[in-house]
Amino acid sequence: MLKPEGSFILNIKEKAVNGERHTYVIELILEMRKQGWLWTEEYIWHKKNCYPGKWPNRFRDAWERCLHFTKQKKFKMFQEQVMVPVGNWAEKRLSGLSHTDFIRDESKSLSGFGKNVSNWVGREMVYPTNVLHLATECSNKNHSAAFPIALPMWFVQLFTRERDVVLDPFVGSGATALACMELNRYYIGIEIKKEYCELAESRLK
Ligand SMILES: C[S@@+](CC[C@H](N)C(=O)[O-])C[C@H]1O[C@@H](n2cnc3c(N)ncnc32)[C@H](O)[C@@H]1O
Repeated sequence: MLKPEGSFILNIKEKAVNGERHTYVIELILEMRKQGWLWTEEYIWHKKNCYPGKWPNRFRDAWERCLHFTKQKKFKMFQEQVMVPVGNWAEKRLSGLSHTDFIRDESKSLSGFGKNVSNWVGREMVYPTNVLHLATECSNKNHSAAFPIALPMWFVQLFTRERDVVLDPFVGSGATALACMELNRYYIGIEIKKEYCELAESRLK
């Protein structure tokens, strides 16, 4: 169903079962790869308004995975759509550049990604990292697992253009559809529970 240049984003987090993290997400990634998908990237949604907590062997979950699968190495990605203000790090880091900051510094891990720090001098907007700092959805009292609209909005902007079609097969309270409506994309939402379908429809109205 996904177009060859499209992206599939899966928001998921492994539960702790019998005192340890379950491996189903890892197994799912391996299975998807067996089926021919590329596990292109992993984004982290940091839930920045999480309240603290402690269990005997861990602390409270404050992040979830957003796995990015594609069908091929070349896919649609519009990085300029999600640029962010350069931030506080820049003033100090870019004020006293060394000789090596002006040359492309190849990654020590041989990942193929290099950087030239001087490229960022004078820029107001820069590319974000793969960690999204977004507050959880607290106002949606009618669905226990709703994500904030800002989450699908970020991915819809990054991987689609206006009038593209976005499918959310677990649409719940309709956050992805609302994001698409806002961003002028077509959407298809699938939801097994009638009450959530009605909730999504009323939010869309
Ligand atoms: C984690 S929630 C998604 C919440 C959604 N992102 C939102 O912001 O409201 C997952 C949803 O998938 C629905 N669901 C579970 N199994 C399904 C299935 N087989 N087909 C369609 N929907 C399903 C659940 O009822 C639930 O509303």
